[in-house]
Amino acid sequence: MNPAIISFDSIDSTNDFLKRNWEKLNNFTVCWALTQTKGRGRNGRSWFSPNGGLWFSILFKPKKVFSDINLYTKISSVALCRFFEKLDLKPFIKWPNDIYIEKKKISGILTEAVMGDSRKAIIVGIGVNVNNDIPEELKEKAISLKQLTGREYKLHIVLRRILGNISRLYNLRSKKTATATIIKMWKKRLFPKEGEEIRILLDEKIHRVKVLKILENHIEVVDNGKILKINSGEILL
Ligand code: BTN
Repeated sequence: MNPAIISFDSIDSTNDFLKRNWEKLNNFTVCWALTQTKGRGRNGRSWFSPNGGLWFSILFKPKKVFSDINLYTKISSVALCRFFEKLDLKPFIKWPNDIYIEKKKISGILTEAVMGDSRKAIIVGIGVNVNNDIPEELKEKAISLKQLTGREYKLHIVLRRILGNISRLYNLRSKKTATATIIKMWKKRLFPKEGEEIRILLDEKIHRVKVLKILENHIEVVDNGKILKINSGEILL
């Protein structure tokens, strides 16, 4: 798939651009902006999007919606990991879909669904810290590709590589085993793993829990002898 790329120097949010225009755009249209004035993160948070970072969103308009929306996020997180792995870096996916390297976040994904009269589309927004400077107050938690490798990257090349990886994984969907294959690739790179003890922030309290099972859309943990299904909450490193 060769995506059409609509680019802007600045826009409110690339996800919001696709949300406003998805009906007239084709499957796999990409919106890319050098800066966003109202970049959005998950859970209603804002996403700082200065020059030098890679901020883009992809529109998926599958004829048959490819099982569930979370699979698009998983495809994207695996595609991002593969991009970093090619640079000899060691990324991992912090559940459910943040990409971390050296225990700091390098990339985040915001997946949203939009509904029309008869069709549904999925928008996957991706932010990658590439050449951008990380603000002082985030330096403990976030990192850029430039910091990790000591060089600057051409954003259009990084974008093409990530899109190529996404497209290859997305094209698997015609195969019966696609979902299982994607989940396997996602789990392989995921933190935590089954059996691991982790700390998780739930209702503003830190819980020490043991991970029983990683399922497609939630994880099962044991908290003080009680089995809980977690589908939100922040896992602490
Ligand atoms: C997160 O980790 O909270 C998700 C961050 C997603 C940020 C990207 S940047 C491109 C796209 N446009 C947005 O407004 N958000 C996503």
